[in-house]
Amino acid sequence: MITQTVPHQLHLAPRMARLGTETAFEVLAKAKALERQGKSIVHLEIGEPDFDTPANIVEAAATALHGGWTHYGPSAGLPELRQTIAEYISRSRNVDVTADEVVVVPGGKPIIFYAMLSLIDAGDEVIYPNPGFPIYESMIHYVGGTAVPIPLREERDFAVDPAELESLITDRTKLIIINSPQNPTGGILPRRDVEKIANAIGERNIMVLSDEIYSRLQFEGEPFSILSLPWMQDRTILLDGFSKTYAMTGWRMGYGVMRADLAAQFTRLMTNSNSCTASFTQRAGIAAITGDQSPVERMRLEFQHRSRFFVDGLNRIPGFRCRMPKGAFYVFPNVEQTGWRSKPLADALLDGAGIAALSGTAFGRFGEGFLRFSVANSMEQLEQALERIGRWAKENVR
Ligand SMILES: Cc1ncc(COP(=O)(O)O)c(C=O)c1O
Repeated sequence: MITQTVPHQLHLAPRMARLGTETAFEVLAKAKALERQGKSIVHLEIGEPDFDTPANIVEAAATALHGGWTHYGPSAGLPELRQTIAEYISRSRNVDVTADEVVVVPGGKPIIFYAMLSLIDAGDEVIYPNPGFPIYESMIHYVGGTAVPIPLREERDFAVDPAELESLITDRTKLIIINSPQNPTGGILPRRDVEKIANAIGERNIMVLSDEIYSRLQFEGEPFSILSLPWMQDRTILLDGFSKTYAMTGWRMGYGVMRADLAAQFTRLMTNSNSCTASFTQRAGIAAITGDQSPVERMRLEFQHRSRFFVDGLNRIPGFRCRMPKGAFYVFPNVEQTGWRSKPLADALLDGAGIAALSGTAFGRFGEGFLRFSVANSMEQLEQALERIGRWAKENVR
């Protein structure tokens, strides 16, 4: 019998050192800890609608639970939901999509993960927006790919510059990620830019991951998907889902739309990792897409209203300069004139003013000089946040 043991040393696989994170969850944890110490915090850090999931969707899930939808289902998703999504995407993106081109997964994130796992090998280059959703960069590094950031600039309203993107394409470029409306900037890709990006790709053997998770939250004009360009259909992986559109972040349900041969590979990854997305939530997903869409429109208008209010308020605070976002629920002010760098500023606002916001650098190095505020909070809270930031700036901005 062994009586003496040395402490076991954890030897992680080297790839774990390459995995990044999403700072929003860390700031949320820190803000919650401050609250436990009795501090009052206004939460503008986390990217989720503050609305409840519409009642008809909750009802459909309850009915499904009582009706026995509690078992494993097909890895690619329930056939009825895949068909419903195929019809919705065909309608909204003006293309012909069939159910075998749809894979239902637990949230939008797995589509990013599976795109990397199935397409990117060591040394393959992936072009992605920066500042951008941090999981792109994290996943590229994790699978051993080479991350090639395309800077999003304030003076272009944070839209990708197609000419600059073209200049970054090399023989090793395997995947280009685009995201519209965009997290964290609220920028969108207008149709002419989408077409230019498609033209830049041309005949090259490059896939596009088009993250359209905020597609129903665009404030003006109709969103235009690269999937709508017929010659791009077999090169595009469209990511969309239920989290933001129907305020279903905690349900964990999203989907990818892609050529059927790639969908089969994503399905194998699902079998290996999750088996399937929860069956009763998928039944609710059918109700979400086929049911009353007025709650979606109400949320969109409310986010637009709150963004306008918050942007106007920020623009009255010394050192802050902010553009009106074109979609999603984030406000991304330039804070260079405060004299503070982004991360110390975000920390100081949390500690000194009780405002939980994210440093622009949480979204990549081109986010320096900016902060991200989520406006998925009540008008009262937003008003209070503006007042606190204003007061803090009076004392701390030269
Ligand atoms: C741009 C973008 N893509 C994907 C996701 C992931 O969404 P989900 O919660 O459905 O995994 C998010 C969530 O914040 C996002 O902002």
